[in-house]
Amino acid sequence: MRVLITGGAGFIGSHLAHAHLKRGDEVYIIDDLSTGSIDNIKEFQENPKFSNRFFAHIDTIFNNNLLLELAGTCDVIFHLAAAVGVRYILNNPLESIRTNIQGTEAVLNICSKFKKKVLITSSSEVYGKHLHAPLVETDNIIYGPSIKSRWSYAASKLMDEFTALAYYRTKGLKTIVTRLFNTVGPKQTGAYGMVIPRFVNQALNNEPLTVYGDGKQTRTFTYVKDVVWALMNLMGNENAVGEVFNVGGTEEIMILELAQKIIDKTNSKSQINLIPYEEAFEKDFEDMQRRVPSIEKIKKIINFEPKTSLDKIIDEVISSSRKKRRDEV
Ligand SMILES: NC(=O)c1ccc[n+]([C@@H]2O[C@H](COP(=O)([O-])OP(=O)(O)OC[C@H]3O[C@@H](n4cnc5c(N)ncnc54)[C@H](O)[C@@H]3O)[C@@H](O)[C@H]2O)c1
Repeated sequence: MRVLITGGAGFIGSHLAHAHLKRGDEVYIIDDLSTGSIDNIKEFQENPKFSNRFFAHIDTIFNNNLLLELAGTCDVIFHLAAAVGVRYILNNPLESIRTNIQGTEAVLNICSKFKKKVLITSSSEVYGKHLHAPLVETDNIIYGPSIKSRWSYAASKLMDEFTALAYYRTKGLKTIVTRLFNTVGPKQTGAYGMVIPRFVNQALNNEPLTVYGDGKQTRTFTYVKDVVWALMNLMGNENAVGEVFNVGGTEEIMILELAQKIIDKTNSKSQINLIPYEEAFEKDFEDMQRRVPSIEKIKKIINFEPKTSLDKIIDEVISSSRKKRRDEV
C-alpha cells in the first residue's frame, strides 16, 4: 500500500510513518518543518530496509501541484500537518488559522478529486471548557470569546471536522475524523508547550518545573504508539468512514502530581514553581480543568484500549531524552 502522511516529519507523523514502513508499505510524507524535524525521519532515510520505500518532500501542503502528484500516487492519506499547541498558536495566530483551515480544505479538495480515503487529526481542544468527564463525541462544546486567541486552535480544528464531514456528505469522500487527546512519547518536543517533554527537560537540567495556575488541572496521556495503532486500524475499517472518534487514555492525573512524579523518576534536584496563567500565556488566559475522553465508541469499532501506562510513558520519554542528550555531546 502507498500511504501519504502530511506532517510526516512531526512527532506523531514520524511514528505513523515508521509503523507503515515496518508493515512493508511505501510511505510518502510532506512537511514544511515548521514544527517538525529532519531528525525525526533521518532513521528512515538511512536505514536500507526502509530508504527505498520512504519518500520525503520538504514542502508545504499549500503546494497544490505537489499535493496533486502525491495524492494521485497514494492509496490513502493521513492529514496531520497543522499548527499545533496553544503556545505556538498564541505566537503565530494568523498563520495557524490559515494552515489549519485553508490547509485542511486544500488537502480534502485534492483527496476528493482522486476519491482517496483520508483521516484527519482533530483535537480534544474542540470540546472547549467542559468540566465533566468523560467527554463523549456527541457532547456540546463551549468556547471563550474570539478576543482570546487561544480558542482559535479549537475553532480551527472544529472547522476541519465540519469540512471533512461535509466532503463526506456532499461528495461521498471517505473521511474519518479523530480527536486526539494529549499524545506523548519519544521525539515530542517541549518547545511548543507540550507538558511531559517540557517537565522532563527541566528535571534533567535540575531547573524548576514550571506548573501553570494552581496545578490542580488534570489531564490524561496516551502513548504515541497506541495512538498510531488506532489511526491505522480506523483507516482500515470501512465502518469508521464519516464518523468522529476520541483517541485517548483514561488515566487522569493532576499536573502538580505529574511534575512531582517526573522529579522523583529522574532523581532531580528541581523544585516546582507555580506560574500564573497570565504570566505564562496572556492576560485572562483560560485553561481547561479536565480532559478525559470516553473511548466507548472507538473500543466498539476497533477494540482500542490504551496499552501503555503513564509510568511506562514517562520512563520512555526520560530514557529517550537522556539518550538524545548523550548523542548530542
Ligand atoms: N500531540 C498531541 O498531543 C496532539 C493532540 C491533539 C491533536 N494533535 C494533532 O495531531 C497532528 C500531529 O501533531 P503532532 O503532535 O505530531 O505535532 P507536530 O508539530 O510534531 O506535527 C505537525 C507537523 O505538521 C507540519 N506542518 C505544519 N504546517 C505545515 C504545512 N503548511 N505544510 C506541511 N507541513 C506542515 C509541521 O512541520 C509538523 O511536522 C496535528 O494535526 C495535531 O493538531 C496532536
